Amino acid sequence: MRAYAKINLGLLVLDKRPDGYHNIETVFHRIDLYDDIELEHALTISVTCSDPNTPSGEANICYKAAKLLQQHLGIHDGVTISIRKNIPVGAGLGGGSADAGVVLRELPRLWKKRIDDSTLRKLALQLGSDVPYFLSAGSALAKGRGEVLEYFKLHIPFTILLCTPNIHVSTAWAYQNVKPNKGSRPIDLKGIVLEGLKKPVHLVNGLRNDFEPVVFKEYPEIMRVKEAMMRGGAEFALMSGSGSSVYGFFSQRKFADEVSSYLRSKDHHTFLTDPNFAPS
Ligand code: C5P
Repeated sequence: MRAYAKINLGLLVLDKRPDGYHNIETVFHRIDLYDDIELEHALTISVTCSDPNTPSGEANICYKAAKLLQQHLGIHDGVTISIRKNIPVGAGLGGGSADAGVVLRELPRLWKKRIDDSTLRKLALQLGSDVPYFLSAGSALAKGRGEVLEYFKLHIPFTILLCTPNIHVSTAWAYQNVKPNKGSRPIDLKGIVLEGLKKPVHLVNGLRNDFEPVVFKEYPEIMRVKEAMMRGGAEFALMSGSGSSVYGFFSQRKFADEVSSYLRSKDHHTFLTDPNFAPS
């Protein structure tokens, strides 16, 4: 199975909650970058991962997903989970969450067990704030911790250039240092995204990522990636999640290719998504 990465089309951090998490508002959208996940029925749970920087075994979020399901269903079946990692880690792309989402969705089927949707969503939220999004297809407006979801169809008529510098940003650190925007004028994120696909100036004027100021200050190279995209002809560029990835929308593929070559010459990773891409 393929576990697709997401980008955040805007990300507002609204306020800190009594449970320590933050209320946010964002639009999640999947791009053409995915991990391959293979599940095989076994006697115990085990996880192997092609990327040495991603933990294998019990520390892997997929192991935790399988364990949660096993406990919830009260069974002793196991599974061998093999992950071929393509999505950079600590990059604001939800790589681990996407993998966990696939495991939660597909494992009950492999074990020939039924689990209702709302239970699955609760288990997903125990694993991480953006795991619930990855349980279903489509783009989504997300609120709360990221688990209050309104799915909708979104086709982006631009080439999306994604750039991930060799910088690992800790999400926990980013939330500890971000300045929440409680009380600021409410923004209709979904409306801006839909309008902006026709007239990208609406994206530039209307979308923001509240993590950018704090992350750019600590890691100026990430800001330079965004600047390179805008200078190189992007209609719009923004950091995804708490970074380090930045994406740009290009109406001309040629410009996206040129900026991609430039960013690669600076030792950054780049990935391209074709216009109107939708996961298979
Ligand atoms: O839920 P997740 O494991 O992705 O959260 C990682 C870190 O980000 C945690 O430290 C959590 O406190 C913080 N976070 C937050 N508000 C959110 C999501 C995450 O404060 N909506």
